[in-house]
Amino acid sequence: MTHKEHQTFKILTYGCQMNEHDSGVMEEILTGSGLEPAKFLDDADVILINTCCVRERAEDRQKGRIASLKQYKTRNRGVVIGVCGCIAQKDREELFEQLPHVDFVLGPQAIRDLPQVLESVRSGIPRVCGRFDDRGTVITGSRSRKGDVTAYVTIMKGCDNYCSYCIVPFVRGRAVSRQPDGIIAELEDLAETGVKEVTLLGQNVNAYGQDLESGITFVGLLKRIDAAALVSRVRFVTSHPKDFTRELVETVAAGKCLCECFHLPAQAGSNRVLSAMRRGYTREEYLEKTEWIRTLIPSSSISTDLIVGFPGETRQEFKETVSLVDTVRFERSHTFYYSPRSGTAATRLSGLLPLEERKMRLRELVEVTNRTTAGQSSALAGSVLEVLVEGPSKKDLSKQMGRTRSDAIVIFEHAEPLTGQLVMVHIDHARPWTLFGHLVDGVGASG
Ligand code: SAH
Ligand code: SF4
Ligand code: F3S
Repeated sequence: MTHKEHQTFKILTYGCQMNEHDSGVMEEILTGSGLEPAKFLDDADVILINTCCVRERAEDRQKGRIASLKQYKTRNRGVVIGVCGCIAQKDREELFEQLPHVDFVLGPQAIRDLPQVLESVRSGIPRVCGRFDDRGTVITGSRSRKGDVTAYVTIMKGCDNYCSYCIVPFVRGRAVSRQPDGIIAELEDLAETGVKEVTLLGQNVNAYGQDLESGITFVGLLKRIDAAALVSRVRFVTSHPKDFTRELVETVAAGKCLCECFHLPAQAGSNRVLSAMRRGYTREEYLEKTEWIRTLIPSSSISTDLIVGFPGETRQEFKETVSLVDTVRFERSHTFYYSPRSGTAATRLSGLLPLEERKMRLRELVEVTNRTTAGQSSALAGSVLEVLVEGPSKKDLSKQMGRTRSDAIVIFEHAEPLTGQLVMVHIDHARPWTLFGHLVDGVGASG
């Protein structure tokens, strides 16, 4: 590449934490090969779009965004546009037909090839197609820029569950766990750069280790990480209810660094729908597992994902999802209407509901989940909670923003930055998604 020192890049990231993590790695790879981050799209010589195809509407919107990037090409012919992530993995070369101004496509398992791919584009090769194979390794290395308080660490990639609606196993490959020594080494590096909180990533972290010879389990890994005490806080996503154990809740309860928050996607409340989704648990089992959390660690939060309007879902079955929310009282819920994804088993089921009906059920469910979130949040008013400060509030620099151990966002007044510190905050009032409070004198300020 020529004029390396003048080249700049911008990465647009969509989708889940895996993509956020991978974008961090791509950023490191690009800065490592001499490029600099651009502040604005207008200034970028290389524009990368890290994409998600889990739902159709989001995919369409991202493709619209990629189409609109053509303007940068017209203005500055030298701009390189690359599509990475899950849409790239799914559509590959086909993307060049739909979006002719794209210079390269690259699968999520092959982002380490970015420098060579850029080199090929720069040498004049049109429509460069990166690797899409799955060599079985986990993309490692985290965004650990100086000053970052939190970071993601991948502990496994892929997914073997093949839930009937889900495209992730098709674009992210089979489940492969990473060796524990590598995970601990990455945590050491992150701790050295000042990171205080890590989130361990996997599509189903509870299946961690099942493919490793050593026989290590997710609980074993968490115990090792907790004993090493390298960072103040450790979170993990996503817990699949079918592999979620009481021992895991006990481990979090006994852990020093392990945060009391569980992301446990229920998807549906009806046993017939859960079975058609191939989720591998019943409503009763799900309720039993959340009950372990509520009784063993009352300060915990439970978040979930829910899909309404799965093929054949009756009104009564939909109501069972609503009643699940009423029973568990999730602190946070991510709600979606069913979106058919080509190649997945659910597209072969009869009884696809009209889009309008799916949207109506979603609106109805969101009313309940919003109410539940508001109720759970307001219950925290008046309490004193440990907050890890992530930095000044974006809206008001005289305030600081951080999170509780249960992953609630807290804003409190304090003009001087306390970034990276653990402080105790009295919660004065609670909005559904944000808590507001003041520092408790003489307590905290450690970490
Ligand atoms: N591995 C995680 C989440 C993967 S995708 C898990 O097992 O739960 C994130 C969420 O997107 C899913 O939990 C699900 O609620 C939603 N989702 C996935 N495929 C979908 C589809 N075809 N239509 C609607 N929502 C979907
Ligand atoms: Fe998709 Fe199911 Fe795997 Fe989650 S567990 S990524 S929903 S197939
Ligand atoms: Fe989307 Fe890929 Fe994540 S499809 S949800 S970005 S694994």
